[in-house]
Amino acid sequence: MSGPLVSAPGKAFLIGEYAVLEGATAVVTAVDCRAHAQRSPSRPSHVTEVVEAAHASVSAYLKDRGLPSPGPVPTVDTGGFRLGSRKIGLGSSAAVAATVVGFLLAQAGVEIGGVDGRKVAYGLAREAHRRAQGGGSGADVATSVFGGTLRFADGEVSPATLPQWLRIGFVDAGAPASTASFVRLVREAAVTDPDPYAQAMADLRGASEDFLAALGGDGPSESFALLGRAVERHNRGLRSLQNLSGAPILTPTIERIIAVAAEVGLAAKPSGAGGGDLVVVFSRSQAALDVLGDRLRRDHGIDLLAALKAGADGLRLERHAPRCSRIAGLFRLPLADRRRAVAAACDLDIAGFDVLDSGALGLEQAEHLIENVIGVLELPIGVATNFRVNGVDYLVPMSVEEASVVAAASNAAKMIRAGGGFVAHSDPPWMIAQIQLTRGDSPHDAAAAVGQIEAERGNLLQLAEVVHPRLVARGGGPRAIEVRVLSEDMLAVHVVVDCRDAMGANLLNTIAETLAPRLQALSGWTVGLRILSNLADRRRTHVTARIPPSALASRGWDGSKVVDGIVSASRFAELDPYRAATHNKGIMNGIDAVVLATGNDWRAMEAGAHAYAAQDGRYRPLAIWRKGADGWLEGQISVPMAIGMVGGATHVHPVARLAIEILGCRSSAELGQVMAAVGLASNLAALRALATEGIQRGHMSLHARTLAVGAGAVGPEIEALSALLIDSGEIKQERATAILRELRKTEKSAAQA
Ligand code: MEV
Repeated sequence: MSGPLVSAPGKAFLIGEYAVLEGATAVVTAVDCRAHAQRSPSRPSHVTEVVEAAHASVSAYLKDRGLPSPGPVPTVDTGGFRLGSRKIGLGSSAAVAATVVGFLLAQAGVEIGGVDGRKVAYGLAREAHRRAQGGGSGADVATSVFGGTLRFADGEVSPATLPQWLRIGFVDAGAPASTASFVRLVREAAVTDPDPYAQAMADLRGASEDFLAALGGDGPSESFALLGRAVERHNRGLRSLQNLSGAPILTPTIERIIAVAAEVGLAAKPSGAGGGDLVVVFSRSQAALDVLGDRLRRDHGIDLLAALKAGADGLRLERHAPRCSRIAGLFRLPLADRRRAVAAACDLDIAGFDVLDSGALGLEQAEHLIENVIGVLELPIGVATNFRVNGVDYLVPMSVEEASVVAAASNAAKMIRAGGGFVAHSDPPWMIAQIQLTRGDSPHDAAAAVGQIEAERGNLLQLAEVVHPRLVARGGGPRAIEVRVLSEDMLAVHVVVDCRDAMGANLLNTIAETLAPRLQALSGWTVGLRILSNLADRRRTHVTARIPPSALASRGWDGSKVVDGIVSASRFAELDPYRAATHNKGIMNGIDAVVLATGNDWRAMEAGAHAYAAQDGRYRPLAIWRKGADGWLEGQISVPMAIGMVGGATHVHPVARLAIEILGCRSSAELGQVMAAVGLASNLAALRALATEGIQRGHMSLHARTLAVGAGAVGPEIEALSALLIDSGEIKQERATAILRELRKTEKSAAQA
């Protein structure tokens, strides 16, 4: 790529919706899903009105200053604004206007990162956005350009500072409605019912004032209480507007989120015009947001968008293009070129790929990993292509000895990409430490022992906190103590611990060992085991995907028939544990390969996955497939994800470190989402093959390639020899060698003729 690479964030309203249209102050924050603009080698196939308008604005600006016209429109990527095929209401069109203007200005030599450059960009982007979208307050464009958090009133923008104690979360409230029509309905209500409208507006305006007062308030407790009242008042105003106008601003899902947030002591309101889409939640701690996220997912199937962060940076130049996981024909390249292609796509130094040469894990390092070392076992590591999760592309390192696993995952990821890619959410990174207590000859029965422990919960949590101050400083730490009665003479005490980016085994075991004597003293029961649980059901990853039938069609198989076949295969696994075991084995083909490549504990992963699959007493498939109302195939997987990005082999093994760099994941939650996506893709690939031509054909063609290479075929010979080998019906090494000999003889005589 040559030319600048420019990005701008999306936005979310914190307060002031509707009232801003009547001159009240809105507070809007930039969120770090970004639109990216870069030079396109040819005219982009789809150029939106906003892009055209942004180009026209900059052209006029440059012309007025006697500067040369800008180049052609850039390519704009807004993948981060999507959850699969659905766009979330984070102001993507404003971000597009800001990005395109920023790109063209940067190309003309304007410094867009500074205050003056951003002011110019804001003026041009606002004008372009207004022209293309026909109106709007401009708050979204301002936020995309300036970033951070802004106050916005009567077109005037000024920075707002969010207090240190405030944590902001966002919840996905489902499909957005057309908010433009909401504003029209509300405006009509202002004319037909002026008095109640004025009352509703007074509430909304007052809410905005109270909110601003809370941001500048004295102590966290009073300020948070004031903020909570402001949010309640805002929601009251919205309910009145809804009654007056008939616009469904507070959908049942939004009302549920508000109610659950209130139950856990948090304040929530729709962000934007309402009608679905986004809800913003205010909290004083990440831990409280995690509790809300957990409850919403478990009890209501609603997801916290945990990766969305408020206060993102505004319009800026980027050093690297976002990773693109579509590298056509990667498998055809010679190995050295393949490495170069992956390094280039990930913007990594190719020299760092030397660790992939055999012998990278030296015997000395191996000696430090385990005992009685006699050598090192090597396994191939490949890279799966086409993965897009929550709008972000990933090239996925996979280490596995089984042929076809990497190819199948890449192939299925391509089909899923056709439907917008994977949508992923994670539970908070909560793991469980277990302490076993047995009654022995204690006079206290189970109920009494449980009572003693529960009464001391607060102190026990404090004690657990002291064990790992660094974890607490990183935002993790103990979250809950739960006591389970396993029989009248056995209890299991669970300490739920937020492990942040660590897998957590050591943290958990230390906490269990520290709390054990205290628990024994409290209950009078005897301590037994003190160890983590690998049934990590509080730390699951959830991934969904939707695939259009056309993407599933293959060699004589109609796409909708393939959908039916896969749904039936899913049902088979749901009804039969014998099939479910094989179904899940196919899922773990993908997950384990990434777990291994990133130096994570695959035994923990396996134990957790299968225990979870059998959690309700019957062994079940981890992923299931259904046919949507529109005929698309819909898949979902939920799987415990006890993995980490810090500590252990992830840190020590040079290949694991490179694998993490290739992935580009910044948190264990993100890494777990990619792993679960690979599991779902592997399952799709297997079911699609099984429901159509059977698994052997694909396996055999890959096996034929391996034999062709083994026989000494190089370059185009590999494809030709594999095809001949399959046609021969005898896929064996001797046959490959013989055919290659024949092939070369024929080529030689053809060349001489
Ligand atoms: C083979 O490694 C995995 C499969 O058996 C999975 C499945 O049957 O779903 C193909």
